[in-house]
Amino acid sequence: MDLEQYGIKMWSEEKIASFQEKLLAWYDKEKRDLPWRHSNNPYHIWVSEIMLQQTRVDTVIPYYHRFLETFPTIESLANAPEESLLKVWEGLGYYSRVRNMQKAAQQIMEEYGGEFPSTMEEIQTLKGIGPYTAGAIASIAFNLPEPAVDGNLMRVISRLFEIGLDIGNPSNRKVFQAVAEKIISKERPGDFNQALMDLGSDIESPVTPHPEDSPVKEFSAAYLNGTMHLYPVKIPKKKPVPMKWQAFVIQNEKGQYLLEKNTYADLLSGFWHFPLIRDYTPTGKQLSLLEEIAEEVEEYPNKNIPMEKQFESIYQMKVKKIEKIKGQVKHIFSHQKWEIELMKYKIDSDQIVEEINGRELRWIETEEFHKIPFSKVQMKLWEHVRTQEE
Ligand code: ADE
Repeated sequence: MDLEQYGIKMWSEEKIASFQEKLLAWYDKEKRDLPWRHSNNPYHIWVSEIMLQQTRVDTVIPYYHRFLETFPTIESLANAPEESLLKVWEGLGYYSRVRNMQKAAQQIMEEYGGEFPSTMEEIQTLKGIGPYTAGAIASIAFNLPEPAVDGNLMRVISRLFEIGLDIGNPSNRKVFQAVAEKIISKERPGDFNQALMDLGSDIESPVTPHPEDSPVKEFSAAYLNGTMHLYPVKIPKKKPVPMKWQAFVIQNEKGQYLLEKNTYADLLSGFWHFPLIRDYTPTGKQLSLLEEIAEEVEEYPNKNIPMEKQFESIYQMKVKKIEKIKGQVKHIFSHQKWEIELMKYKIDSDQIVEEINGRELRWIETEEFHKIPFSKVQMKLWEHVRTQEE
């Protein structure tokens, strides 16, 4: 790739060597002691990288240990029952990632005889593994000179070379990739990539940067020119669509709660939660994932019918309203922003239709809650109910 066409002036070989030396010396001295840094098993690196894509290092550590205790091998992950898979990911969010990991584990068993593939091309054939994760695994576990280009790395590189391309635009990724390929250490690519990750998450953090402490500040064009604040360029994406919902917190005479397992929608599929009905009134008609599905489901409520009536027609049982629970629960998915009102109801019998419109229903005691997978939304709902009752 001709980098000059993007206004990027590549360093000389000497400068690249000197950059690598400074960065790696700093890494050797200052690197964070993280559990996955004690392993070069590609399976372990993979697990850590997928988790790190969605949350902070501190949060990942206990999840990482638990995951590998529960599924110590690729084979055990390939054969895991869905509920234990979701349980071990509970609270991390983006559950499609762990489902994809299981599919990839099955692929490794079937196509690669249980052995993690060791080339960039093969690694990228695995479900859920894109160029960033493949680069991280290839460099850290197999010592291949492959960059791991994510937002952090693009932030660091955009400042080193004053690159004014929008890092939110996927088609610009290849430019950062090409720059990283030029400067990566061929001897220690995994450490080089992780050194840039450490730099990006601390000294060059998006929130609290302190670039004067950078071991490579004299290589940074933006630092030297006083233009740090101009990089990276990131054009804001569309905001998530607001949606209102009502949660039905229903207890029977035995004190059990009615929970449903959602199996028909992409969002929350496989998780147990209080029955939820979309409240269309205030936000108006917005086309959304769930609404599209809703239109296909004949029994889905019409927006003009009162909530209780909607409930009765979907779940085919009569409930008695007790009270509205104070406050709201809010949850943001990448493309939707939910506001959930909670209503408390009771029901005289414990009769339910166990499977309705692709949802399974069950009465469940609170003592049993820990045994079934709850989505983050449901955890928040339950926490809200509990704190209101105290
Ligand atoms: N973020 C993503 N991958 C990482 C790693 N290997 N070490 C630290 N932070 C990371």
